[in-house]
Amino acid sequence: MGGSLVDMIREDLVAERIAVESYSEIIRWLGDDDQTTRNLIEDILKKEEEHADDLSNMPETFDPEKAPALK
Ligand SMILES: [Fe+2]
Repeated sequence: MGGSLVDMIREDLVAERIAVESYSEIIRWLGDDDQTTRNLIEDILKKEEEHADDLSNMPETFDPEKAPALK
C-alpha cells in the first residue's frame, strides 16, 4: 500500500473510465432492441461520466497551483 492522494484519485479515475467504457459497450450491444433497458443504462452512464469528471478535477480543487486536472 501507499502512494499519494493524487495517485489514489488517479486509480479511482481509471476505474470510473472502465465503468464508462463498460456501460457504453452495453448500450452498443443493446442497439435499438430494448429501449427501456437502454434508457436505464444511459442514465447510469451519465452518472459514471460525472464521477470521472469530478475525479479528474479533484486534485485542482485541493491545490490549484500544484495539481492541475488529471488527463
Ligand atoms: Fe462511478
